[in-house]
Amino acid sequence: MTLLVTGGAGFIGSHFVLDWLAMSDESVVNLDKLTYAGNAHNLEPLTGDRRHVFVQGDIGDAALVGALLAQHRPRALINFAAESHVDRSIRGPGEFIQTNIVGTFQLLEQVRSHWGQLPQAEKSAFRLLHVSTDEVYGSLGANDPAFTENPRNEPNSPYSASKAASDHLVRAYHHTFGLPVLTTNCSNNYGPMQFPEKLIPLMIVNAQAGKPLPLYGDGRQIRDWLYVKDHCSAIRAVLDRGQVGQTYNVGGLNEKANLDIVHSVCDLLDELSPRADGQSYRKQITFVPDRPGHDRRYAIDARKIERDIGWKPAETFETGIRKTVQWYLDSPRWVAQVQSGAYREWVATQYVQA
Ligand code: NAD
Ligand code: DAU
Repeated sequence: MTLLVTGGAGFIGSHFVLDWLAMSDESVVNLDKLTYAGNAHNLEPLTGDRRHVFVQGDIGDAALVGALLAQHRPRALINFAAESHVDRSIRGPGEFIQTNIVGTFQLLEQVRSHWGQLPQAEKSAFRLLHVSTDEVYGSLGANDPAFTENPRNEPNSPYSASKAASDHLVRAYHHTFGLPVLTTNCSNNYGPMQFPEKLIPLMIVNAQAGKPLPLYGDGRQIRDWLYVKDHCSAIRAVLDRGQVGQTYNVGGLNEKANLDIVHSVCDLLDELSPRADGQSYRKQITFVPDRPGHDRRYAIDARKIERDIGWKPAETFETGIRKTVQWYLDSPRWVAQVQSGAYREWVATQYVQA
């Protein structure tokens, strides 16, 4: 038995692959383009492990995807591959349209063709699990109820619009062709090995480097935060027990304002790696111009996955953020490796005043 995982060298995908192979002997074929966000170092613990087959390539490469499906006959495909950073989608949406929409479409076409020819038993057992985001739902006001699994999306950024489009394609391939799909819409992940363009790792590495901690606008935007390994356990649970054609919200029960997140990071750093001058890292917080079209609040109603599948997160924010900060402090080599020329160029363009 084999899983085909796409985007398995990225932040969440690499955790998923590592956790999967730590718990199961079912092999994984890992298809990843290795964009700036894909990091082969994340998969170093699997060096020499014959259960892991890494293939560098694009989900939009129909011939490659078709050949992988024919050769490995996976019992399921988990689609993590995407362009994932909102700010990059504002600076240049093209890659987001290409990978998240066109790439997902090409993947669906290849899966549909392969699946259609499988013998009945394999056909019924096959699953395509599409990993998506709460951002497709839009933005909430302070007193609005949390997002439920509602297909009537209101995405606001090129990133979330491209993810919503991919969700709609996945849903349509089930509705029209009967493809056995599952979709998960998850809130903000954090944890080890997250590329330091995202809020939490950016704050940790900037704090350590004595740089400003750039908060957009008033810093009062709210997100729900989930430890990455909890997201991976949710995906395993949905793959195992999810009902075909259904969408499941995944959340951490941790609605927090960005300023509070950054305060938590600073306070942990003050405890675990104090500044030489004895001052708090909070002194480095700098308010910078807001993200265009910045969504104010996300909150996720994850009662369905708990009720129907029996999943809920294992980590609290306090336990997860401590592990995360400690990991970055213990991993200067990993941080140095990802701070390539391309990373420095992005930071210089994005944070002109910070
Ligand atoms: P990431 O940017 O860290 O990793 C994405 C991976 O996809 C990288 O390894 C990259 O090389 C690969 N990739 C990109 N384009 C590709 C292509 N055309 N073909 C093959 N591989 C390609 O992203 P992440 O944070 O790990 O997110 C993974 C998935 O989860 C995405 O679909 C994202 O939308 C979704 N998601 C992320 C979060 C979050 O907070 N990070 C929350 C909810 C959902
Ligand atoms: O909600 C799920 C989504 O979470 C995922 O689908 C995306 O792939 C993932 O990137 C994330 O999107 P966000 O835009 O919420 O994450 P980001 O880490 O970029 O920003 C989190 C919040 O912090 C957001 O309100 C913007 C703010 N922020 C971010 C950065 C990078 C700052 O204030 N300063 C910053 O420098």
